[in-house]
Amino acid sequence: MEPFAKVGDIIFIDPDDGSVELAPHDLWREDAWVGVTKLVVGDRVVVEIGGRLRLFSNTLAEPLRAGLTVEGTDSDGILGILSEKAIKFLDDSTEDALPERFIVPPNENLSFEDFGGYSDIVTRARELIELPLKYHDALNEIGARPIKGVLFSGPSGTGKTLLARIIANHADAVFYAINGPEVLSKWYGQSEEIIRRIFEDAKKRERAIIFFDEIDSLASQRSDESHEASRRVVGQLLALMDGFSPDTNVMVLGTTNRPQDVDSALRRPGRFDWHVDFPIPTKRDREAILTTSGRKLRLKEDMPHLWVADRTESWTPAELAAIWTEAALLAVSDGRRALLPEDYIGGYERVAKQRMGPRG
Ligand SMILES: Nc1ncnc2c1ncn2[C@@H]1O[C@H](COP(=O)(O)OP(=O)(O)O)[C@@H](O)[C@H]1O
Ligand SMILES: [Mg+2]
Repeated sequence: MEPFAKVGDIIFIDPDDGSVELAPHDLWREDAWVGVTKLVVGDRVVVEIGGRLRLFSNTLAEPLRAGLTVEGTDSDGILGILSEKAIKFLDDSTEDALPERFIVPPNENLSFEDFGGYSDIVTRARELIELPLKYHDALNEIGARPIKGVLFSGPSGTGKTLLARIIANHADAVFYAINGPEVLSKWYGQSEEIIRRIFEDAKKRERAIIFFDEIDSLASQRSDESHEASRRVVGQLLALMDGFSPDTNVMVLGTTNRPQDVDSALRRPGRFDWHVDFPIPTKRDREAILTTSGRKLRLKEDMPHLWVADRTESWTPAELAAIWTEAALLAVSDGRRALLPEDYIGGYERVAKQRMGPRG
């Protein structure tokens, strides 16, 4: 005999006679669809759903036009507009959704020489990312628990993205770069599928790094609207990371300015359980960052790095690097082709003023 109900079905029990009845399917949950409006005639709308054209009447208060992404159910019709843009359907012919599109080739002009200060952080990050990729088999034989995910956290402008890119150049690994905000907005509703494809592709490589810049934008709960999408993305990421086999030689690297916003499920063991924190630089770090970020510029004399480092307590590396841009502007506006110490000091003063804000 067929079982009366399957797991997930809803049943009613009559309190009077104890009889059991199966709830009609549509009472429970009807699958929502996502489609693109193709044609609007009066209050009738043609919607393309999964490659098929369907006709609905517009029950929304707002007028519709062709080219919107809408959601709905068969019985209620169109329930809302998800995006002002039409989503693309992911099939193999969708060129720009291919995982290869996310691969960043090594950049010969970027090396550890371009990263000033923070020597402990650089050492630790390389140890957590490069070493496991390089000695994957040896670590397996030893029986070490694999490092799957590393999270770079720290205030904006502390060099997280820069260091990730430099490590990618050195790791001799295929590097996939995913920008959190972009993958959510441009690929609304399809982010999970794209992420799944990238992981599939990465697992086939000898070594790979999957880099999620600003991962908090993917894996946080900012608003109700993004909540559902971000929950699905987190679920997808968890499933993919949990699904690594011993042969998988993939490192997942994420950066965030808001570690508190990264979904806690992502930070459990076996996921992003390794952290590298990027603090505000110390005076020694500042001196090194100033020297490093100015090293490719044409300088006429010795530069007063220590003088500047002394006056830039609590500045981020990005702010320190900006001094050189301002200094170069001062030099050229003065008709020079090389920097003088006075340009450097002038650059410092300009950035210092900007930091104070409009009232400073
Ligand atoms: N350690 C560093 N040495 C030299 N320049 C740095 C360093 N860290 C950051 N910068 C400069 O600041 C810019 C912004 O850094 P970025 O990596 O984007 O910061 P984050 O990702 O932490 O917000 C870099 O492009 C670089 O010019
Ligand atoms: Mg960044």
